[in-house]
Amino acid sequence: MAILKIARMGHPVLRQVAHVVPDPTAPELLNLAGDMIETLEDIGGAGLAAPQVHESVRLVMFQVPPGRGQEEAPLLILCNPVIDPIGDEIEWGWEGCLSVPGLRGLVPRPATVRYRGQGLDGKMIDRTVSGFHARVVQHECDHLDGVLYPQRMPDLTHLVFESEMRHQAPLPTAAPDQTEPEGQEE
Ligand code: NI
Repeated sequence: MAILKIARMGHPVLRQVAHVVPDPTAPELLNLAGDMIETLEDIGGAGLAAPQVHESVRLVMFQVPPGRGQEEAPLLILCNPVIDPIGDEIEWGWEGCLSVPGLRGLVPRPATVRYRGQGLDGKMIDRTVSGFHARVVQHECDHLDGVLYPQRMPDLTHLVFESEMRHQAPLPTAAPDQTEPEGQEE
C-alpha cells in the first residue's frame, strides 16, 4: 500500500481517454485500488479516478459523505463505468477537484443519472441516483474521458478560490446539501 502522487491540471494523463479495464478482478487492479483508497483517505475527498494518480485506466471510486442532504454512500469502486442521464433536469452545484487544488467552480450537470459498471469482483453494479451522488459519479467518470470540471462550466466567473467561497451567493435553487457552498474535492 502506498500514498500516490496526484496529477494536476496540465499533466497530459488528465487529458487522455483512459483504457478499458479488461479484467476487474486482476491482482494489479486490486493493488491500484488499495493505493487509491489510501491516497483518498490521506488527502480527504469524495472521489478519485485512476488518471488522477497517473494510471490511465477506467477505474473510479467515490462516496457520499455525511451532510450532503441525502443518504450517505460508502466508498464504491467502479470499473468501466457508463453513465446515462435520466430526464432533462439540470442541477447546478459547486465542485472541487484534487487535480485542480484550491479552486471551486459552479457546474451544471444532469440531476439524475443511471450508472453501470463492474466492481472488483467482476459483478455488475447498476444504480440510479440524484443529488450529490449523481454529481460525484459524473465528475469522476469525466476524468476517464480527459475532462476536468472547468471544461463543464459555461461561465468562468464562477471559478473561484476556495478562500473566497464566503463571497459567493447561495445557489438560487439550493438543495439542502448545497446551502453551504463548500464544495468537495473529487
Ligand atoms: Ni476531480
